[in-house]
Amino acid sequence: MSRIERLLLDFYGLIAPKYEKFNGLLTFGLDGLWRKRLCLMAAENTPSLCLDICTGTGEIPRLLKRSLPGKVKITGLDFSPDMLSKAVERSDAEGICFILGNALELPFKDDSFDLVTISLATRNLYAETGDLKRYFTEFCRALKKGGVFLHLETSQPENVFMRKLFHMYVRTAIGLINMLSPRSKMPYDFLKNSALNFYNSEELSEILAESGFKDIEVYKMTFGAVCIHKGVKR
Ligand SMILES: C[S@@+](CC[C@H](N)C(=O)[O-])C[C@H]1O[C@@H](n2cnc3c(N)ncnc32)[C@H](O)[C@@H]1O
Repeated sequence: MSRIERLLLDFYGLIAPKYEKFNGLLTFGLDGLWRKRLCLMAAENTPSLCLDICTGTGEIPRLLKRSLPGKVKITGLDFSPDMLSKAVERSDAEGICFILGNALELPFKDDSFDLVTISLATRNLYAETGDLKRYFTEFCRALKKGGVFLHLETSQPENVFMRKLFHMYVRTAIGLINMLSPRSKMPYDFLKNSALNFYNSEELSEILAESGFKDIEVYKMTFGAVCIHKGVKR
C-alpha cells in the first residue's frame, strides 16, 4: 500500500463515525441531492446487478435499493473497514452486501455487473496513483458489455466567477476544519488540493473514452462544481 493510500485509510477510519454529518455540513446538504440524481439516472437503465465502488458508509447502495424496481443485488466495496462497518450497521435492506477491497483490483470476474457507480471518491483515487485511466479501465472490466458507469465527483465550473467562488469556498472551509481539527490537517489539505486541481468535465470525459466507455454524457450540478458522468461499456 502506498503512503497516500495508508494516509487516506487512516483518515477515513478516523472520520467514519461522523462522515455523513460532516459531508452534509460541508456541502450544505447538497451531497444528498447529488447522490439522488445519480440514482435516478441509474433507474433509467433498470439494472439488476450493481456495484458501488468506494462506497463509504453505503449511502449509494441504500438509495439505489429505493430507486430501482424489482429484485436487485447491490454490492458496495471499500478499502476502509471502519467505513464498511458503518455501512453494514446502516443498511439492513435485503439485496445489499458490502465487501472489503481495493478499487484498483476489483475481486470480480470480467463482465459481472449491469451498473457500476462511484460517488465523491475519484479525487482520492487520482491522488493515490495519479492515473485515473487505470481505475476506470478496471471498473469497465467489471461491467457487462453495454453496462452503465455513473461517476459523481466535483469538477471545475466553466464560468470564471463561479470557479473562483468555488475555489474560495473550498479553501475557506478546509482552512476552518484544519483550525478545529489540526490532527487531520494533512489529509484535508490533500483533499482540498485535489478539489482545486481536479479535471474539468471535458477532460474527465476524454479519460473515460480512453478507458473503454462510449456514449459519454455529462450532467452538471451546482453551477458545474459537481458533475455526473455517464458512460456505456463498449
Ligand atoms: C469521500 S468517501 C466517499 C464515500 C461515498 N461514496 C459517498 O458518496 O459519500 C471516499 C471513500 O473511498 C474509499 N477509498 C479510497 N481509496 C480507495 C481504494 N483505493 N479502494 C477502495 N476504497 C477506497 C475511502 O475509504 C472512503 O470510504
